Amino acid sequence: MNEFLGLKGIVFVVTLFQLFASSSAHLNYLRKCEDKPHCHRQMHYRASIENFTEFDSSLIKYSMIPSSLSFSEAGKLSGLIAKSFKVEKENETIYQNISLPFEFHFNSNNDFNTVRFLIKEDRESEMKKNLPEYVQISRYNETYTHTFKNPLYFEKNEDTMILDSEIDFEYEDSEEIKTLVINARNLPNIKLKITNLPTLKIEYFYKEKSVLVINEENLLNYEHLRSQKDKKDNLSQHESFFGAFRSDSDFYNSYTQSEMFFQRENYIFGPQSIGLDIKFLNIANLYGIPEHPGSLRLLETWDTELQPYRLFNIDAFEHSVLNNDPLYGSIPFMLGVAEDYSVGVLNNNPSDTDVDVKYNKNDSLTHWIMETGVLDLIVFIEDSPASVLKSYTDLTGTIELPLLSTLGYHQSRWSYESSLDILNINEHFKKNEIPVDFFWLDVDYTDDRKYFTWVEKAFPNVTDLLFKLDQDGKKNLVTNIDPYMKLHYFISDRIEDSGLAIKDHKMNNFVADSWTGESVWLDFLMTEESQKLWQQFYEEFLESATVAGLNNLHAWNNMNEPSLFKKFERTFPLNVLHNNGFEHRSVHNLYGKAMHEATHKSLMETYGGDKRPFVLSRSFFAGSQRTAASWTGDNFATWDHLKNSIPMILNNGLAGMPNTGADVAGFYGNPNEELIVRWYQLAVFYPFFRAHAHLEASRREPHLIIEKSPKYGNLVKDSIQLRYKLINYIYNEFEKSSLTGEPIMKPLFWKNQNSNNSDVFTIQDQFYLGDLIVKPITTSRSKNVKMYFPENNDLYYNFNNFDDKIEIEKSLKNRYVSVEVALDYIPTYIEGGSFVYLKEKIRRSSTAMKYDNYTLIIAPDKGGLVKETQIYYDDGNSYEYKTSQKFVTTIMSFKKNTLEINVKVSNMNETPQYIEKIILLNPSHEGHHKVIENLEIPLFKNTSFELL
Ligand code: NOJ
Repeated sequence: MNEFLGLKGIVFVVTLFQLFASSSAHLNYLRKCEDKPHCHRQMHYRASIENFTEFDSSLIKYSMIPSSLSFSEAGKLSGLIAKSFKVEKENETIYQNISLPFEFHFNSNNDFNTVRFLIKEDRESEMKKNLPEYVQISRYNETYTHTFKNPLYFEKNEDTMILDSEIDFEYEDSEEIKTLVINARNLPNIKLKITNLPTLKIEYFYKEKSVLVINEENLLNYEHLRSQKDKKDNLSQHESFFGAFRSDSDFYNSYTQSEMFFQRENYIFGPQSIGLDIKFLNIANLYGIPEHPGSLRLLETWDTELQPYRLFNIDAFEHSVLNNDPLYGSIPFMLGVAEDYSVGVLNNNPSDTDVDVKYNKNDSLTHWIMETGVLDLIVFIEDSPASVLKSYTDLTGTIELPLLSTLGYHQSRWSYESSLDILNINEHFKKNEIPVDFFWLDVDYTDDRKYFTWVEKAFPNVTDLLFKLDQDGKKNLVTNIDPYMKLHYFISDRIEDSGLAIKDHKMNNFVADSWTGESVWLDFLMTEESQKLWQQFYEEFLESATVAGLNNLHAWNNMNEPSLFKKFERTFPLNVLHNNGFEHRSVHNLYGKAMHEATHKSLMETYGGDKRPFVLSRSFFAGSQRTAASWTGDNFATWDHLKNSIPMILNNGLAGMPNTGADVAGFYGNPNEELIVRWYQLAVFYPFFRAHAHLEASRREPHLIIEKSPKYGNLVKDSIQLRYKLINYIYNEFEKSSLTGEPIMKPLFWKNQNSNNSDVFTIQDQFYLGDLIVKPITTSRSKNVKMYFPENNDLYYNFNNFDDKIEIEKSLKNRYVSVEVALDYIPTYIEGGSFVYLKEKIRRSSTAMKYDNYTLIIAPDKGGLVKETQIYYDDGNSYEYKTSQKFVTTIMSFKKNTLEINVKVSNMNETPQYIEKIILLNPSHEGHHKVIENLEIPLFKNTSFELL
């Protein structure tokens, strides 16, 4: 071969490879929708339906059976849905009928407009015949016990029961329901219209407007459980029998894609997937269903080059930001925002789920495909996204108030090597006057990744390390505990002996290769017993610390998707069994949550319940917010990843999981100083602020940056200091979120739902934190940026110098203003008519600042007013705010140059706190701010203070 050509060829190949590598090549181990039998079948069904303009009688028809309906329990309508379909059998066309029990639950707990629609399956006993006893053939329908804060949420309050007479039937004839209109007595704004002809359609009305329709596109396709014998007979003409009884389970076991297509069945589980279309009416913007990179507003995937959004927790190795690939966590909650209402949908199903999105003029159409489980669809309809989040988290829970110190700065890397290493870094923080609250130990503190052990040489006296950190401003340590447990040591032995390990399909302990060789996994889904064992591990691990009265070691659960090496998709084969007999495929997305919940409870018990535990989990599901914080996983030290962290954190917040962050300044790679600075400046406003880096990345602790380049290093220091100045302001945002479920970092539309500028719904490089609006710098060497100043306000004060103002009429259409950028700050503005409060004294940690007084920034609106604003305060550490109402809520307002302080609730006898300084901003065009010092305005007493 011509050498020259050969060389060219290589260059060409390399270039192609590089191109590919920079997009999604890293994830080519991921199954795409069409590669999965269940998804393929549902898509095939969709393709066949798309040929019809109207409902065709040969399609699958669903209808409610009138005689089966009953309205017996509180707010509950139950009955049977008949699934009927045409089948060609021995040259004859016959109709098959399968009945599916369903329930509608109307929330009867409170005023939230929450309606649950459940379809179950009643062919289980028939299916059981040929199966080993330990296997559950039934569809997994217990997701709600994990997702709901109170599993009995829909079962309560018999006295608000809906009466039969309040449900209006409109029969066309007595056999067939044409339409059934349901009004719930306690939810006057909600109406449901169920139509049977030509097939089942469910329409949700809010204040007499139709807002959501299920099965408008006839994509409801509830694959009924079948025995092997009747596999073909029970298929409609339009269902693909591709893979129907090729084992879906085995399919997932295989290592390569080509092998997958030739696997044959061992089991008789058969297809159990569910397809469903949901149309959001007059809603042009959809959000949520994290965790995916790429975009705040969900991208259009239906008939585009993008794959459907996949909800499947996965150890996404080196993920890109250019697409919507699945990542470590999944929350099947979608939010649609219209001008005067907002709709949330929780598809409460933890199996592999794909969601296609299509925007049609003003409506949004979605197609959901779940591999297995039951349909458990909960719809929340309210006036605003805030009210939807409130009702969604009334069901799934809000965050609990975190330890105040967790809102401080976290210093991590993979891995600090020893106690001395940590203490030494801590000294540098002090020397440089940089506050810090948490140090993190990644995997290498363990003896050969045997969790709950230490490398003795490097950590000879852990209690002493904890003691020293505790003495130094109550600082904390976190250790990483992954779920894979290497064989043959005291932890894995006990997991094996207890019978609580995940099992393979023959009920032997499932053993597979993980990071450290052959391992077993505890089945956290057997919650009680597994949790007890897990707790014992923690109790023993922390014993000497607790004996010494220390409780400053916290937990990091990583690799809990779960991540497993040498398996296709790097996770459990989906036919491994949980101890309640369910295949893993039914519960996959719940594993990480089950683990972090067990950890949370273990810490709570180990520390005697008076300290709020802190758990960081990489994997999560709906409801995870109750017990864990999370982060966006293994990002890169690039501008793209800095930028991508914003929509990811925003979407987490819109799905009820607000306490998240991203590795600062990127996990893989070595960022240059400019990128480091810009990332720290952004992270000041992340709910969770942690620096973390890969094993091979160079060290970049703040003091090292100062040493290397004081100009940049000092800006990193400034950022951390700013975070601490704002820490109580941020804590207040957490407190609000703990009551209302609202995000902590909020997108622009949050306050501008009725904007007619579509940019408000798509901007993903700006956000709110409280009444601050932030525009992080996401590109190198920015000199100025175009910032959007939303229409809910007409005056914005520059937070970085207090005097520059943006004055912009609310009615003005063009709201972009070019703002200058310097290296030492990112554009941040205070909304006119609000307060921001700071604790300005720089100390070593958040606890050391506890009794410091406040600086109050008063930013009046054009009329000189500031709206009522809350300062929440408690001990930041214990549960006394709950158990003995020990907290203070102070409401401040400002008018006619007078600051009013009104204490709403106060049960604390703690050292009183004061406002010691006021920075009064001036709303007039040329006006300057005024600083008033040496004040002593009590914050915990009703006061009125006139500013001269
Ligand atoms: C993967 C995690 O995402 C990362 O944060 C951690 O440093 C490594 N595992 C090592 O534990």
